[in-house]
Amino acid sequence: MLLPPQSWNADVWTDVTRMRTLNAVQVQKGQQVHLCPLQFDIADRVITQCSMAGEVVWDPFMGIGTVPLRALKAGRRGAGCELSGGYFADAWAYCEAQEQESAAPGLFDFITAGALGEGSNGTAGAVVSVQARENSKESLLTH
Ligand SMILES: C[S@@+](CC[C@H](N)C(=O)[O-])C[C@H]1O[C@@H](n2cnc3c(N)ncnc32)[C@H](O)[C@@H]1O
Repeated sequence: MLLPPQSWNADVWTDVTRMRTLNAVQVQKGQQVHLCPLQFDIADRVITQCSMAGEVVWDPFMGIGTVPLRALKAGRRGAGCELSGGYFADAWAYCEAQEQESAAPGLFDFITAGALGEGSNGTAGAVVSVQARENSKESLLTH
């Protein structure tokens, strides 16, 4: 679903797809949905406009992990913390799955490498740390 144009100014994004969020995945999995999920379109644009490949993108209120997940997809490192243990666990699972997907060589890796056994898209590594913090706040850092 697209927002109807409210402005013709190029700085006003009228083409954000409201339903492209992690909540759609949460519903498919029968998991708890987030009350206020962030649209992928918004996260993707801010990440690409405000960070470079390989940099850390941090969301101190990450909910179910939209920002670190989309950061990983964009070739950044994803980081964040979240008060709710349930949301944090979901965020962790999404980021871990994305890292595994990013680390797996694809068809074009084999073609450009010119040989089997070589090639990686190099956009992600492994989850390196998770720490329980004060007030049951937790954080994750991926790269
Ligand atoms: C607007 S939601 C973020 C949604 C997220 N963008 C997503 O797409 O899932 C805000 C989140 O901040 C968390 N939060 C609130 N206070 C916090 C605190 N002091 N430290 C860490 N997280 C907190 C809430 O649990 C909630 O999940």
